[in-house]
Amino acid sequence: MKIDILTLFPEMFTGFLNESIVRRAIEKQLVEINIINFRSFSKLSNHQVDDTPYGGGGGMVLRLEPLIDAIESIQKKDSKIILLSPEGKTFHQKKAFELKKEKHIILICGHYEGFDERIHEFIDDEISIGDYILTGGELPAMIVTDSVVRLIDGVIKESSYQNESFQNQLLDYPTYTKPAVFRGYEVPEVLLNGNHEKIKAWRKEQQQKKTETKRPDLLRGESHD
Ligand SMILES: C[S@@+](CC[C@H](N)C(=O)[O-])C[C@H]1O[C@@H](n2cnc3c(N)ncnc32)[C@H](O)[C@@H]1O
Repeated sequence: MKIDILTLFPEMFTGFLNESIVRRAIEKQLVEINIINFRSFSKLSNHQVDDTPYGGGGGMVLRLEPLIDAIESIQKKDSKIILLSPEGKTFHQKKAFELKKEKHIILICGHYEGFDERIHEFIDDEISIGDYILTGGELPAMIVTDSVVRLIDGVIKESSYQNESFQNQLLDYPTYTKPAVFRGYEVPEVLLNGNHEKIKAWRKEQQQKKTETKRPDLLRGESHD
């Protein structure tokens, strides 16, 4: 899989691409991630990429030409072009699994007041990471990329995400590690006795209970379309 990220702030991605699982996935060539500064596609003086909004009002709007030129320089027949925007559908794990199947994803990070509305003529999808406003699309791009990359075959063990939260509309089961007693708080007995059947049953029951308490909307299947 290839992921191209269009941004005006490429340095924000330095840590993200050079640490932990994402770095290893790149090193193993399971994913190729390119950070492209679309300012370099501007033909205006000072490589200007934004301008004042028609009709007045505050803030600056991203001009279309550099963005579309940048997209067209990398776009292939099977590219999926995704705008990161608070107006998109809220991102979730099911969407991450869908995107994992793509060969080439182009993520577009906005900034300032956002995009010229006509950008919608040039994209395939629009993703929000939640109902709040960030300064730019860089953090959303990292969030989408991170969640998709870890699902690519060979990046982490499949067993690591099989029981994770949001699989089968459930939250993860509770996990514990050593010591068995910490400041008087004990690890549940069932996890210490080595009876794998009992452990499996207990974990399943805990997943159900935890989801009922914390996220009953998941059990009702209300969260996502
Ligand atoms: C300050 S925001 C623009 C907000 C826009 N004027 C509005 O009210 O909807 C600048 C850019 O940050 C990104 N962004 C901000 N919040 C986001 C969110 N919740 N999800 C995805 N992208 C977001 C988008 O790329 C957006 O174009």
